Amino acid sequence: MKDALTTEAAAIFLGVSPARIRKLIKDGRLPTDKIGRDHLIQTTDLEWFAANGRKNIGRPSENGCACATLKDDVAVYHISKTSTLPLGKGEIICGDALEILPTLPSNHFQMIVADPPYFQVLLDEEWDNTWKSPSDYLDWTLSWVRECKRILREDGLIYIFGQLGKREHVWLHTCSMLAKEMQFHDMVIWDRAVGYNERYDSFTPQYEMILVLRQSEHSRPYFDKNAVRLPYDEDKIQSYLRDKRYKDKQAREEHLRKGKYATNILRIPSLKGSSKEKIGHPSQKPISLISHLISASTRKGDFILDPFLGSGTTAASAESLGRNWVGIESNPEYVEISKNRLNELLTIPQFILD
Ligand SMILES: C[S@@+](CC[C@H](N)C(=O)[O-])C[C@H]1O[C@@H](n2cnc3c(N)ncnc32)[C@H](O)[C@@H]1O
Repeated sequence: MKDALTTEAAAIFLGVSPARIRKLIKDGRLPTDKIGRDHLIQTTDLEWFAANGRKNIGRPSENGCACATLKDDVAVYHISKTSTLPLGKGEIICGDALEILPTLPSNHFQMIVADPPYFQVLLDEEWDNTWKSPSDYLDWTLSWVRECKRILREDGLIYIFGQLGKREHVWLHTCSMLAKEMQFHDMVIWDRAVGYNERYDSFTPQYEMILVLRQSEHSRPYFDKNAVRLPYDEDKIQSYLRDKRYKDKQAREEHLRKGKYATNILRIPSLKGSSKEKIGHPSQKPISLISHLISASTRKGDFILDPFLGSGTTAASAESLGRNWVGIESNPEYVEISKNRLNELLTIPQFILD
């Protein structure tokens, strides 16, 4: 039966994962003939599906600065290029990352910024308490990371935020599990500058870890250290210039003015409740932190994905830096917050002129 394909072949045909095909079959969206343990899918059905079946995911229904469509329970907000605003391109998809990730194209994203639920750290937030046990949480983590690996480019990097405080042991298991799935690349420490006083049996937690993974041992990720140099303070420059060993003072000064390389310990204050940047998400990350990571790991025009968009920090940063982006968020209220944040950003005159 050469006009029918197996699940694996159908996945290649549509450019999605076999898991996505199995889900479509289970949901009755792809008709099949069951042969033994596998399914056979008619190519005519696949062609129909490619043309009609998935236009609701990540595709705008109309042009404009920000539009929303609701189809198959998936809201799509598309911030598109318009003739008047020289803007980047982005999409916020309201849905479950586990459902949406399999619909995204393979080998597509230069960078993935993932700040997932931490597992029972924010006890008041339902989204952080949906797993019965650490092992459930680890299984869930493995599922979305595997999908992220599929859609990450060979020279791309994925940044996964860890957590602060009491549940570090789950995070340590997460790191060790993920280092078997992908190649460990770095561990960035986000020093939040102030402590988070949630425990009395040890020192006050002040940092969060960001696990950085690449595709494989031999992959060579894009990374530009020069894009995130930090300035020396003036006193330091003057004291270095007094050093008699350097004959060519002008060359030395030019070199110093470029600034120093940033280390993998980033001291960036976390957002206080009273901060102007804070827009109503309990775990909102500072935009300067995300921008630092994006600037070093992508070029203008590259695609960035955030599967747990929250208040839209990655989207706002990527848009400001001229990158293309996709954000997934399951909570419609946070989608609304992100959408407003992006709309506001797009109306800042200075930003439009950039
Ligand atoms: C730690 S927060 C992200 C905060 C974000 N980095 C920011 O700066 O605003 C995690 C987010 O993941 C969302 N979330 C939880 N489970 C999800 C899922 N299965 N799919 C998509 N989003 C999910 C939550 O609603 C929450 O907003």
